[in-house]
Amino acid sequence: MYKKFLSYKIFAFLAFALLTYYFTVPAVYFHNIQDEIKSMQKLSLIPEFPEATYKVWNFYSQDRYSNLSVSKDQANDLRKRIENYHEIGAISVPVWRFSLFAPNYPIEAFPQGLPVFIHMDGLSGEVHEMDTINHYIGMKPMDEGAKFERSLVPYLLVGMSAFMFLFLMHEKKILDWVMVAPIVTPFAFLIIYVYWLYLFGHDLVDGAITIKPFMPVVIGEGRVAQFTTVSYPENGFWLLLIISALSALALFFKQKTFGKYRIKFGWVATLVSSLFFGYLFYFLLHSDINGLSIKKEMEAITIEKQAEVKEEKKEEDKSVSEVKKLERNIPTSALVKVSTIYKTRCSSCHGAQGEGSVGPSVKNLERDVYFKGLEDELHMEIVESLSKDELEALYEESKSF
Ligand code: HEC
Repeated sequence: MYKKFLSYKIFAFLAFALLTYYFTVPAVYFHNIQDEIKSMQKLSLIPEFPEATYKVWNFYSQDRYSNLSVSKDQANDLRKRIENYHEIGAISVPVWRFSLFAPNYPIEAFPQGLPVFIHMDGLSGEVHEMDTINHYIGMKPMDEGAKFERSLVPYLLVGMSAFMFLFLMHEKKILDWVMVAPIVTPFAFLIIYVYWLYLFGHDLVDGAITIKPFMPVVIGEGRVAQFTTVSYPENGFWLLLIISALSALALFFKQKTFGKYRIKFGWVATLVSSLFFGYLFYFLLHSDINGLSIKKEMEAITIEKQAEVKEEKKEEDKSVSEVKKLERNIPTSALVKVSTIYKTRCSSCHGAQGEGSVGPSVKNLERDVYFKGLEDELHMEIVESLSKDELEALYEESKSF
């Protein structure tokens, strides 16, 4: 009997455990959270989440990519990362990656190029930065890709884990069908991924430079404009393949041993596991509701802000002189010409041209004030890797805004 147990339950158990640990649990706890953080950060607000979300994120993000501006003690601390307005990535195992290499991302500062990781339920890595470049060639923000598919993923994963557990505990023939899902998952992922890559490469709007529609590279190296992109599977994809193979083996060996023995503890295990999956599912729904309330709050704030902006505009319009009108007619591309360093490191907080957004305006500051401003903890990390000359150049540039 021991041998028979080995024959298929071991495979089924491994498949179940890998899927649940690496995909289901992190995807559930991080469901919708990324979007919320992003929209709250846009409004300079700090969102609050259930405590479990922080714990799970901190645990799973331990050996994940984080860029140079993120210090070691912040890397695994979701609270700190949100407070510092860092980009927050998904935490299930990344399934695919593409990296971009370009002259403005020197290898010393970006040893992995500019990487973006594709997860089953989201993105991580240099998404914002990559979007800036994508925008430049007229591509849509990556976050708009596979939105619907991604929103389903946590539910599908919980369902898959739960049914795989049932398969493990019961011998009913009907449960064999359950294993089809993990078997096809890696292939389904690839199909959806390639489909969206195709859409992104072919649905281009007019960017700063116009390029022909193209198929972004799926595996290997490709070139788009002056950029080299490298794309390949990450650990998550191999894991999905292993889970797929284990599930197939489990199914195969079950056919061979079916009906020869029974396990009595099956029902007890089902009870315990339904509590576990019930909890996961509850959490999923709960975080959803939580998200909704935050969204409402945000909408209210956005409307308020819009009203404020409108008020300001009205007043400005009244006092607008002919000169200003003329100025407006100058194409913005001629006006927005800033250095790459300013654009990538400062503009997110100080505005496209130093006019200020999250941070204050940095136009026409006294030399002392300017450099004093760079001395606090927030800026230390941002300017750490810049040379004296580069800082000098930034200051010079700020006077020309
Ligand atoms: C994460 C957002 C963020 C980024 C990125 C950022 N800053 Fe700031 N900056 C702020 C905030 C917020 C302040 C307000 C005071 C403070 O906390 O230091 C500020 C203040 C300053 C000041 C002082 C302004 C004053 O009136 O005293 C200067 C100068 C400045 N930043 C320059 C820069 C430069 C140059 C960069 C890019 C290398 C940069 N900042 C990147 C958020 C940011």
